[in-house]
Formats: sequence, C-alpha cells, structure tokens
Amino acid sequence: MVKKNLCIFISGNGSNLKAIIDRSRIYNFPAQVKIIVSNNQKAKGLAIAKKNLIPFFIFDSKSLCGEMKIINEIRRRKIHLICLAGYMKILSKNFVKSFPNSIINIHPSLLPKFKGLKTYQKVLKNKEKKTGCTVHYVNEKLDCGKIIKRKYFFLEKKENEKSLKNKTQKLEHKIYSEAIIDILKS
Ligand code: GRF
Repeated sequence: MVKKNLCIFISGNGSNLKAIIDRSRIYNFPAQVKIIVSNNQKAKGLAIAKKNLIPFFIFDSKSLCGEMKIINEIRRRKIHLICLAGYMKILSKNFVKSFPNSIINIHPSLLPKFKGLKTYQKVLKNKEKKTGCTVHYVNEKLDCGKIIKRKYFFLEKKENEKSLKNKTQKLEHKIYSEAIIDILKS
C-alpha cells in the first residue's frame, strides 16, 4: 500500500501527534507522518519527532520568509494533508490559500460550540450535559471550517477542567486518525 504523506503542526505536548504516529505504523493506515512543524522550539512534542526519526522544522509564524520556507518544504515533500494538532497560532491567509481543502484541525469541544481558547472552562461554566471534540477543515476564520467528525461523552457530576481534558483527549487520540482515514480513503 502506498501511503500518503502527512505534515503535523504542533506547539506543545504532542499527545495527538504521538497517537497519529502510533496509528500510522499499522500496515493498512493510509498515511505516514513525513514532517513535523512547530512554532515553539521548546515544544515537548519535538521529543516525539526525534524519537521517531521524523524530520521537524521550527516555524517562525511572524516571518513571511519563514512561512515561505515551510510552504516550499510541504510542496517538496508532496504532503497530502496538513494536520494541526495543538498548534496555537492562527495560520496566515496566504498559508491557508496555498493548501485548499488540505488543512485540518482538532478542537476540544463540540463545534460550533466554544470556539477559541479556554474550552474546558467554557463547557463547565455553561453547565453542558455533554462535550467532546471535533475534527474540522481549516479556513480563514478560527475554528469555523467544515466539520469532518465529532465524538462526545456525557459529563459526570464532579467534573473539573482536568477530568474534562483527560476524557476529551482520550477521544481526540482516536478521532483524529479516524478522520484522516475518512479523508484519504474517500
Ligand atoms: C488538544 O486538546 C487539541 O484539541 C487542542 O490542543 C490540544 C493539544 O494537545 N487544539 P496535544 O499537544 O496534542 O497533547
């Protein structure tokens, strides 16, 4: 099976990155992680890139020249899909337009509810009965692109931000790979 190429963007821990890499090792998973891009040179997730011998690039999101270098690298490596996995910067219009329908993101709420930051706080404050995560296409508006897949769970009585994060991320680690399969096989 010829696997398609993924580029994963991270800023922090990289637990979703790790889940995708682990899943990609399975023979019938349709993709492999070809490169990793981080805007943060101290991102813990870079240790995962090193451990798995996957080339990584530090991306200066404020520099046009830095952006062009990453765009060229993505083109040169024939990347089919760009997956934002805890990437905490907004991509420029130029970047988004360079890869139409080829950038996806994972967000820790049931979009369109609770876009942006501090999601778990918002879920608790709003006394939601259920929450979860969403994989969606990236467009020029934050967390607004077409929804690809969502998974949810019901909140228990004594939830707090930590318990919500644990439960949400457990779902994220499954749903992101499933969404990648759906996109690449269709
Ligand atoms: C995830 O919860 C994701 O939904 C959000 O950022 C978090 C990143 O976690 N966009 P990790 O770096 O993959 O552990």
